[in-house]
Amino acid sequence: MEKEITVYPPATVANIVCGFDVLGFALDKPRDKMVVRLLPERKVSIINKDDFDLPPEPERNVSGAALLAMLKELPEGIGFEVESTKTILPGSGIGSSAASAAGAVVGANYLLGNRFSDNELVRFAMSGEELASGVRHADNLAPCIYGGVTIIRSTDPLDIIKIQSPLLFVTIIHPQIEVKTSDARQILKKQIHLSQAIQQWGNVAGLVAGFMKGDYDLISRSLVDGIIEPVRTILIPGFDEVKSQSMKAGALGGGISGSGPSIFMFSRTEETAHLVENLGAETYLKMGLPCRTYVSTINQEGVKITRKEVIL
Ligand code: HSE
Repeated sequence: MEKEITVYPPATVANIVCGFDVLGFALDKPRDKMVVRLLPERKVSIINKDDFDLPPEPERNVSGAALLAMLKELPEGIGFEVESTKTILPGSGIGSSAASAAGAVVGANYLLGNRFSDNELVRFAMSGEELASGVRHADNLAPCIYGGVTIIRSTDPLDIIKIQSPLLFVTIIHPQIEVKTSDARQILKKQIHLSQAIQQWGNVAGLVAGFMKGDYDLISRSLVDGIIEPVRTILIPGFDEVKSQSMKAGALGGGISGSGPSIFMFSRTEETAHLVENLGAETYLKMGLPCRTYVSTINQEGVKITRKEVIL
């Protein structure tokens, strides 16, 4: 049995505008790096190898919480050590906590000879998300573990469907402010009008059909959110400008990535995706707000498991 494995969990975009808590997709970059080791005792140990000051106590750490959930379903005499180097910034809106939880359970499962299914891994990792945001949501975890675009039809019981998607280029624009998912959920309305729900259902159905048919116009028409976006954009300076400039530059559409502050935009070509990236970076430069940007495609693989070093 192997005693150690290196995994690279990817960043993810949850919600995909209209599918709050039910849609998400994985990115090729950025990714975290995690070394997971098997221990001969019932114990979880976390070593943070970055400067984010994340708690090393397993019950206060998202990787630790996910592994403790897994340990409950394992015999005595098994434990794990995780050495984590994060590139996906905590509080960035591109699934930082999900990457930590997913990477830990995928690595541990590999060392156990893959005894758990992907669905079970998402269930364990949800304990990490619960610790981070107070909610057992899976719209970052499912694409992180399954890869591609995923639908979370239900979280209890878990029902995850991975769907096809056409070639799309994704621009991520991340203004360097931190938005806590728990805060971004607190400000949401608890009730909505039936007319708003009907529009949202139409857009979610249209977006799923657009992905599966590879219909770019339908994807573009369906990237509309009348419920969450109007409330959350108050937390993201420059959002309206970045979005309208991106659309003028030829993007298909986009919006808040997860609970923000990152903004994502889909484009049909890499050239447009880079144009959108440059415009977004200029907007934040003018505002005096540092920002990070990425251009990526949709990652179909999920967490990469490898014994070879990967350049991040
Ligand atoms: N669906 C979650 C939310 C994703 O929007 O609160 C958080 O990354």
